[in-house]
Amino acid sequence: MHPTLAAQQAVAARRLPEAVARYYGAGAGEGVTAAEAEPSWQGLRLRPRVLRDVSLVDTAVELLGSRLRTPVLAGPTAAHALAHPEGEAATARGVAAAGGLLVLSTRASLPLEQVPCGPWWFQAYVMRDRGRTRGLVQRAAAAGASAVVLTGDVPYLGPRPGSSRLDLLGQGEVDPGAEQDPSAGLETIEELTAASGLPVLVKGVLRGDDAAACLDAGATGVVVSNHGGRQLDRAISSAAALPEVARTVGGRGLVLVDGGIRSGLDVLCALAIGASAVLVGRPVLWGLAAAGAAGVEECLTALTSDLALVMGLAGARSLAEVAADLVRPP
Ligand SMILES: Cc1cc2nc3c(=O)[nH]c(=O)nc-3n(C[C@H](O)[C@H](O)[C@H](O)COP(=O)(O)O)c2cc1C
Repeated sequence: MHPTLAAQQAVAARRLPEAVARYYGAGAGEGVTAAEAEPSWQGLRLRPRVLRDVSLVDTAVELLGSRLRTPVLAGPTAAHALAHPEGEAATARGVAAAGGLLVLSTRASLPLEQVPCGPWWFQAYVMRDRGRTRGLVQRAAAAGASAVVLTGDVPYLGPRPGSSRLDLLGQGEVDPGAEQDPSAGLETIEELTAASGLPVLVKGVLRGDDAAACLDAGATGVVVSNHGGRQLDRAISSAAALPEVARTVGGRGLVLVDGGIRSGLDVLCALAIGASAVLVGRPVLWGLAAAGAAGVEECLTALTSDLALVMGLAGARSLAEVAADLVRPP
């Protein structure tokens, strides 16, 4: 893990109420998938290039019309007021200062209209009350979101021993799985596209055939993710799932990935295997808890500087030069 993130995690652990820290750290079931996330990136090996004039290294990327200084995005996580009194407003300022993009959770502590201040996407769940889901994505579009991220891996809330949402009642109910509609199918992609007028990405995809089905159903892209190991324990790691998904999608859509990304090397490997950008979940919460907006900015800036350094060491001057042959095939 990058030392800045480790330091922020340590400060957050001292500052946060124990129930909140447990909620952030929790994995589903026996925690097998949660524990595998970081080591599975660390298990990849690189094939660096030499003598490539890496005096200038550029981490900029354009995603669905947003020009960003970094491919490290802030993933959707619930209830930021648990980490900092300013909640998502502080997160959004930090992300914008780092030149990044915020994926705002449906379960944000603040009304979405009070949050955005840079490029942002809105994360949606399909709720039993479909009208409410439609209303939310319409509000997000009106407030300036440039995409909808439909989370597909929460038909039910994953079992998280020792960290049920009940721990947090009284501090704002988070993750109310009971509202999720387990009957949601691929048609919801089209429903959300029509309601919002925005491109829709599906988050939680771990298989090539699922990615293809989502694109066939109208999705603009997918986020390879196992929800930070919080849903189905023993689901494969994102690092293990990414090659197949990237191969299947090819150039047909956007592929992003999250789960256990903690260093520039993790980002470099993810981009090489075929992701256009990565999302980080818990590290942003640690930064927010440690120092508000400045902490979020520091977290994303640290990962971005680290990425630039390892790109230079690997002989890649731009994200376009971070090609699949940079990683040794398994
Ligand atoms: C505390 C917490 C809350 C989360 N809330 C949401 C959410 O509201 N919507 C969602 O799609 N994913 C949610 N996630 C999953 C993250 O978007 C992301 O997939 C995961 O955290 C990435 O792994 P990482 O934390 O190892 O970076 C949450 C994760 C955590 C840790």
